Amino acid sequence: MSLLSCDLVDSSVLAHNLDPEDLRYAINNFHQISKQIIEQYEGYYAQYMGDGFMAYFSYPVAHEDDAYRAVLTGLKIIEAIRSFNIDLKTKHHVELRLRVGVDTGQVVADQFVVGEAANVASRAQAEASPDTVVITETTKRLLPADVFTYQDLGIRELKNIGPVQLFCVSERRGSNSLVIETKIFRPLIGRKKQLDLLSDHWDLAKDGIGQAVIVAGEAGIGKSKLVQQFEAEFGANARTILRFHGSPFHRNTMLHPVIENIQAAAGIIPTDGNDERLAKLAAFLSSFDKAQRMLPVMSGLLSIPGQNGASRLPSPRSQQETLDVLIEMALHYANRGTMLSIFEDIHWFDATTMTLLEALIPMISNERAFLLLTTRSTSTAQLQDKFFITQIVLSRLRLNEVEELIESFTGDKALLRSVHTQIFNKANGVPLYVEELTKMVLDAEPIQNGKSADLSGEQDFAIPLTLRDPLTSRVDRVRGRKLLQLAATLGRKFDYELLLAVSAMGEEALNRELRHLVAAELLYQKGTVLQQATFEFKHSLIRDAAYALLTKAERETYHKRVGELLEERFAELAKAHPETVAHHYTQARSYDKALHYWYEAGKQLAARSAHSEAVGHLKQGLRQIPHIDDPLLRSKMELDLQIALGNSLRATKGWSIEEVKHAYTRALQLSRESGLAEQTFQALFGLWAWNFVHAALGEAQNLAEHLLEAVKTADNRIHRALAHEALGFTLFAYGKFDGAHAELERGLSMCEAAEAAGYLDPSAQDPRVHIRSYDGMALWFLGYPDRAVQVCAEARRISQHPYSEALARTITLRVHQLRGEPAAVSAQADAAIALCEQHEFVHYLAMSLILRGWASAEQGEFEKGIAEMQDGLEKVRSTGGLLYETYALGLLAEACLKNQRYGQAFDFLEQAHIRLEQAGSVRFYAAEIYRLLGEAYLRSHQDSDQAERCLSQGLTLAREQKAKSLELRLCMSLHDLYAPTRNAGKYRAQLSEIYGFFREGLDTADLLSARAKLQAT
Ligand SMILES: Nc1ncnc2c1ncn2[C@@H]1O[C@H](COP(=O)(O)OP(=O)(O)OP(=O)(O)O)[C@@H](O)[C@H]1O
Ligand SMILES: [Mg+2]
Repeated sequence: MSLLSCDLVDSSVLAHNLDPEDLRYAINNFHQISKQIIEQYEGYYAQYMGDGFMAYFSYPVAHEDDAYRAVLTGLKIIEAIRSFNIDLKTKHHVELRLRVGVDTGQVVADQFVVGEAANVASRAQAEASPDTVVITETTKRLLPADVFTYQDLGIRELKNIGPVQLFCVSERRGSNSLVIETKIFRPLIGRKKQLDLLSDHWDLAKDGIGQAVIVAGEAGIGKSKLVQQFEAEFGANARTILRFHGSPFHRNTMLHPVIENIQAAAGIIPTDGNDERLAKLAAFLSSFDKAQRMLPVMSGLLSIPGQNGASRLPSPRSQQETLDVLIEMALHYANRGTMLSIFEDIHWFDATTMTLLEALIPMISNERAFLLLTTRSTSTAQLQDKFFITQIVLSRLRLNEVEELIESFTGDKALLRSVHTQIFNKANGVPLYVEELTKMVLDAEPIQNGKSADLSGEQDFAIPLTLRDPLTSRVDRVRGRKLLQLAATLGRKFDYELLLAVSAMGEEALNRELRHLVAAELLYQKGTVLQQATFEFKHSLIRDAAYALLTKAERETYHKRVGELLEERFAELAKAHPETVAHHYTQARSYDKALHYWYEAGKQLAARSAHSEAVGHLKQGLRQIPHIDDPLLRSKMELDLQIALGNSLRATKGWSIEEVKHAYTRALQLSRESGLAEQTFQALFGLWAWNFVHAALGEAQNLAEHLLEAVKTADNRIHRALAHEALGFTLFAYGKFDGAHAELERGLSMCEAAEAAGYLDPSAQDPRVHIRSYDGMALWFLGYPDRAVQVCAEARRISQHPYSEALARTITLRVHQLRGEPAAVSAQADAAIALCEQHEFVHYLAMSLILRGWASAEQGEFEKGIAEMQDGLEKVRSTGGLLYETYALGLLAEACLKNQRYGQAFDFLEQAHIRLEQAGSVRFYAAEIYRLLGEAYLRSHQDSDQAERCLSQGLTLAREQKAKSLELRLCMSLHDLYAPTRNAGKYRAQLSEIYGFFREGLDTADLLSARAKLQAT
């Protein structure tokens, strides 16, 4: 809302100089005159303040240009009081002088205006010099360009408000000048077809076949822009260009666009006296053949009292005469050369101007004339049918065009893609909205390092200030506004049934209003039968505007009603979309319920492996926590939320990011405080997993033992299974394969006996799948290559959720890698990667990338493979996952060795070696790292001593760990090292012995190679 504050200067002096009756006369007239002007601009004359008053614009009816109206009102009042002063001066020898201030902002208005804008307006007013209008920066931004001139008053310290930038405004001389600057700052985007069409018509017009084209489309779609571009390209070929602008203030002022046009053409300005005006008009008309006859008619039209005292308003007879003269003028122009007449915004033309236009169209059919009309109304059927006018309807811009438009504002400061998308969605392809939203984003977001921050957070875009008025005015004036606002609480889209239920209106009344709202183009209806249709706000900005017009109390009431209805009468919907119910209760500030539903929503999505969305809902839930009064409920709910949050976060962000640790740590603290054993277990398990994947094995082992301790007393099989899983996994990481296998078997036997449904909640993954997969790996190390793949296949078969499936697929790839099967890995890796990408499972994605890279390198695509492996390694490192680091480094080294990149191989092995040297390190792949080191020494430097040292160290470790598969490889390496020498026999016997251990997997690469070696000697 814009507020105008107006007060008299020195009214006490006035009171001193005038007797009370005369004073009353002066002041009454001041108010009377002001009130008339305020009403003319559809403002609201509201309050007395001393001798002055306050006026509101946008109340009770909002307009799209209220700021403009307020400022014009101020200027007009000053002008009017100047005239009134002539009378006062002659009668009472005094003058009235005033000050005006205008500010714009949000206020609550009824009888008295509340809000800062009201105070700012009166303080700004006090800063004004006599007979001037002072406005704030906010108001200035909302004023149309090129209409006013401003004097910068600088930043003023306003009492009780603070520093505010102020401007003194005056109306720009000749602002209505014919030559409006048509400088085009920004390029026209798209609209090529439309320009071509205009150009075709223009060619016809130039050849003497008069044309009329109407450009139609909603506000801000780019009608004026198209016309400007057309003018810029073709205007130079026109002999005459005439412009007529419809104005919302002057819908009922006869021939207003024409009067403005002629005044401007004649160079008449507001301060000209009557004689001057007449002289200028006469001079202007002198070039016309019938100037003598035209002058009285035109001076009548312009309300210039002529020598013969032409009446102020043309009588009906002379109206026809006026039109005749105007048409004559137009034809005169067309005669001289091609004439381009632009009629902008004809939806605001007064009836007489429309009559003139309709009369003109058929008259120009054989003239060199081009009439270009624009209108917001899409139903121009009347004109079209009557005259076969070509109509160009402008549609919304497409995504790529919108992006181009955004970029024309941002220049080289890139906005994030997600911000682009948000702007596109919100603006719905309307360029005006795109521009305003972009400007808003640019204003709000300091651009850092060439990139803006992501705005996709929970906070939605607010409505840009410059759009608030136009949008609000559309909503404010429409019949059925209350219903529209109620619908706005349901969101951008809603369906009939719910609206009917919420509205508490009769069906008939509802239908009537809905139809009206659809006809007013505020809502789209999808589906022909109203009762079964869904509705959508035409713009989300319109929804936002309708919503913004609700008071806080109304909003809360509506949302509460919707929430309750969803629960009671639309239970199916509520169950399917708990987040919707949650949203309504949040807005209704029914925190308990909101919390409950956010949690439900999070759990439901997590169960479907939609963890990113789940995180969003759970965080919403956490935001309600501080509002919960009951301390018990508060702890319990936060606990549940934190655990669920931790579980979902680790799925999408990786197992070992800080946020995950934070969630579980907080949960553990809460669960211990409130003595909730069930949750304590989950928090502990979450922390164990964090440490495990972070390769903090000492802590992981402690936590695993804690878990086992905790389940001893409880009768919860799933927890038991998980406790054994935790220990089994930890042992595996240490390279204690037989211990690991035993724990995993134990865990698995507990799973089998328990209910399948119970698995997901405690760990957000299925232990039957997880345990089997790890057991698969342990079995390979232990020397059972076939059982290893079988167990993994079983894990994959029983996995029921994308998350478990991703895990099972990834570990299957790993087992194939261990078996030395690049073909199998590359055959299955794409599917695993696609699954992980689809659900944003970063950890498994990174792992699968490493494995696919290894397969590529093995299959001859070395560079590609290495790059992919490194990419995967980086990814997993960035999530804090260090568990498979030495393994990944080993694979990289292996590929390098194979391709004689010894320097690189040493590099990777060195990194791995450093890790191994650390206390409590991950050692399941350690023996293999020693073997690779030995191979590296041997192949690069022929350094058989170093090689032997490394290989022997590896062999000892492999035997210690009972890692038969690695022992086999080490024996082969040592065998090859010594084959040409006298010690060959020693390693041949060892190789033969370990080979003899294997009862399965005899066709795997390692065993085939071992057999070949044994047979060769
Ligand atoms: N195709 C386009 N390429 C670049 N900018 C555009 C395009 N169309 C519109 N704009 C920009 O969008 C804004 C709104 O356009 P314009 O004023 O032409 O709309 P309009 O249809 O005339 O609206 P109204 O009905 O309010 O007069 C302007 O700032 C204009 O420069
Ligand atoms: Mg326009």
